[in-house]
Amino acid sequence: MALSDFDLVLFGGGGDLAMRKLLPALYARDRAKDLPASARLICVGRHESSTAQFLDAVNETARPHIPEANFDAALWASFCNRITYVALDADDLATYPALTAVMRRDPGLTRVFYLATPPGLFAHICQNLAAAGLANDQSRVVLEKPLGRDLASAKQINKDVGEVFAESQIFRIDHYLGKEGVQNLLALRFGNVLFEPLWRREWISDVQITIAEEIGVGNRMGYYENSGALRDMLQNHLLQLLCIVAMEPPLTVTPDAVRDEKLKVLKSLKRFTHTTLAQNVIRGQYRAGHVGGAPVPAYRKEPDANPASRTETYVAVRAEIDTWRWAGVPFYLRTGKRMADQLAEIVVRFKPIPHSIFAQPTGSFQPNCLVIRLQPDEGLHLNLMAKTPGDGMRLKPVELELDFRETFKTPRMDAYERLLLDVLRNQLTLFMRSDELEAAWEWVEPILDFWEHEDNEPIPYTAGSWGPAAASALIGRDGLQWREEALPEV
Ligand code: BG6
Repeated sequence: MALSDFDLVLFGGGGDLAMRKLLPALYARDRAKDLPASARLICVGRHESSTAQFLDAVNETARPHIPEANFDAALWASFCNRITYVALDADDLATYPALTAVMRRDPGLTRVFYLATPPGLFAHICQNLAAAGLANDQSRVVLEKPLGRDLASAKQINKDVGEVFAESQIFRIDHYLGKEGVQNLLALRFGNVLFEPLWRREWISDVQITIAEEIGVGNRMGYYENSGALRDMLQNHLLQLLCIVAMEPPLTVTPDAVRDEKLKVLKSLKRFTHTTLAQNVIRGQYRAGHVGGAPVPAYRKEPDANPASRTETYVAVRAEIDTWRWAGVPFYLRTGKRMADQLAEIVVRFKPIPHSIFAQPTGSFQPNCLVIRLQPDEGLHLNLMAKTPGDGMRLKPVELELDFRETFKTPRMDAYERLLLDVLRNQLTLFMRSDELEAAWEWVEPILDFWEHEDNEPIPYTAGSWGPAAASALIGRDGLQWREEALPEV
């Protein structure tokens, strides 16, 4: 579907996200000829500078994030031609005429305000856009995380933004939903009959969802120290993945049909009490170690770190969903920085066979296991038992593999490219609704309270490992192992 002409206003236009992700993603879509010829990007920042000076910064900072193979100097020049820079103090209505002056007024033009700013500015920006007459019924607003730091602040954001924009105009980004692999999970579940009958407590023993990162906090210490892994990754990305794994089939892929089902999952997550929290949630913080062969310092020794920090860089949770489909099935969620590998995957483990008809005992059969790999490669792995060739009936685990890059040789779209296109097409399915956001915070809030008020420290783990030993014990209590622990040594 061709996009209609637009003005995209990027608050935080000179910031890290704009330079690393948003401008390169828009360039990629321009290169793919998705952007209408007259579409414009208005980058808004606090610093006084001309558009020419801003473009120098874009060349220096955003351009290196475009893969060399995709770079074309003439195209880049025409992309840069779309950009206008406006210096403005987001808090101060008196500075908004500078923005009004450059925006087009044509009826029918799509107007998008992308707020890649700290959330403390959301309310003022929305009010000022309304007061300046820039926000109207046709405008859209895109909100970047962090969308709050607890339930109260998330509600406040919803309220403030909701005073200016209707829910149907608000795009809350969770970039994980824009990943190809996540959408493939929808295709796997609802485009095939094979798994759906088995996708329930009768046949599934447990589900593991892992987002492991080798990187540390980089230059984001200021943000991360006040956030931690629970707020930064679990409340949003991991819970969104869990929703897609666990939701009932939506009626259609229309926004509310999908979001209604995700909301039901969030609402049926079993609430933690103080006792169950201590048993089911592990938080860790990395100490010095080696990642990819190179030494890395402890989190508390990173540049600008608080040497007594209690911020968690790792979290593992054993969650349960109280529904007919999932009652009693543990969902293990974990994420961490400075882990042994860079990987995001969902592991669905099926129950063991009930009885062995072969000479081998039931216990020697590896239960079937479906691995949905989201990163770094996208693919599916299905473990089955097969007979080894030759005399006798000896069975052994084998793997069916599907590599999506091999299967589809077409160019990939980065999550932000996909989500920006959806904003411009006014397609809300992959964006969180206000009630989803609040339900996710509601569930994690007891964990935050517990950590804040109880005298408990994060458990240290060595950088470059798979996290604290307590996380192995968490899953081990159910007689299970994290996938990498269960794999044979190579
Ligand atoms: C962001 C977090 O939302 O997701 C970062 O703030 C994290 O801390 C990033 O590194 C991970 O995203 P991806 O797409 O690289 O897995």
